[in-house]
Amino acid sequence: MTSLVLEQPTSSPANPTTATPPATIVLAGATGALGLLIAHHLRLRGATVRALVRPGATTKAEAASLRLQGAEVVAVEYTEAAALTAACTGASCVVSALSGLREVIVDAQTQLLHAAVAAGVPRFIPSDFSADFTRLPEGSNRNFDLRREFQRRLDQAPIRATSILNGMFTDLLTGQAPLILPGPRRVVYWGDADQPLDFTTMINTAEFTAAAALDDTTPRYLRIAGEVATIRGLQTAAQQATGHRFKLLRVGGLGVLATMIKVTQTLVPAHNEVFPPWQGMQYLHNMLSGQAKLAEPLDNTRYPGIRWTPVREVLAASK
Ligand SMILES: NC(=O)c1ccc[n+]([C@@H]2O[C@H](COP(=O)([O-])OP(=O)(O)OC[C@H]3O[C@@H](n4cnc5c(N)ncnc54)[C@H](OP(=O)(O)O)[C@@H]3O)[C@@H](O)[C@H]2O)c1
Repeated sequence: MTSLVLEQPTSSPANPTTATPPATIVLAGATGALGLLIAHHLRLRGATVRALVRPGATTKAEAASLRLQGAEVVAVEYTEAAALTAACTGASCVVSALSGLREVIVDAQTQLLHAAVAAGVPRFIPSDFSADFTRLPEGSNRNFDLRREFQRRLDQAPIRATSILNGMFTDLLTGQAPLILPGPRRVVYWGDADQPLDFTTMINTAEFTAAAALDDTTPRYLRIAGEVATIRGLQTAAQQATGHRFKLLRVGGLGVLATMIKVTQTLVPAHNEVFPPWQGMQYLHNMLSGQAKLAEPLDNTRYPGIRWTPVREVLAASK
């Protein structure tokens, strides 16, 4: 994981001489890994941040960190429509960084969406933050099926939605997505070593999301990638980061990966986990097949000042 260097938030909007009050952004899932980073970057951009936190989480260290950053922490149950609507009132955008399965991605986000509409909030950013799930076949990735289910509700609602698609978090290459194996010095893959893949760090995703939340002119989709790298590109990055030679290890074609997913689902079902091993393998299959590749041109240059972290730097930082 890259080390997180937090800059000091400004206590006032970027231009304190203007009379315009800072925009209020409602942030759901603010206690999460991505949510905390989005809150930080919203504060750096001068936004007023209203962090929605479930009552049981208000005493967590993450809630204390949000308060220290100058965010307002509001305790709210997603099932309490009136309280949720009150919590959304006055916001220019609702950002969701919730993480979970159906009861979160479909149910809680729908409750949040209804509250945002009832409160007259003009814009909504759902907790997508992923590869491009929009064109994938149903059943090819359990978590993406849930996102598309919520997307259908979102696209019917009288609110402007913007999904941020960032590919895989680069940070996962040093942990949960073990394509690069430092021990045996191998880059493991299935299919085509020249298939382009999208990677963005969690920090870059948060920086971009904060800017997008404060931008009234965002389109339905924004696509970003800190680096687009093939499997051979990951090999080069690993070599540059470590100074050692890495070899490619092709386990098989994508059909082999599909079979491995089925076997893993049978042996380790873990259906209540958000990211069981088989779901990570589904994610890899979606990426390696090219079906979840972000369409170009990417929107990386939409907001100036974001420095996109390459894969090599993330790998070097984890050495
Ligand atoms: N592209 C990628 O490679 C990648 C990788 C990882 C994650 N992501 C995505 O990034 C987003 C954020 O993930 P994360 O890792 O930051 O999540 P996380 O750290 O697990 O945080 C999840 C947040 O959701 C809240 N939450 C969980 N269950 C809830 C429920 N039933 N009702 C209401 N709130 C609930 C938690 O609040 P409490 O504090 O109350 O529990 C927490 O604030 C998700 O969309 C996730 O899928 C993308």
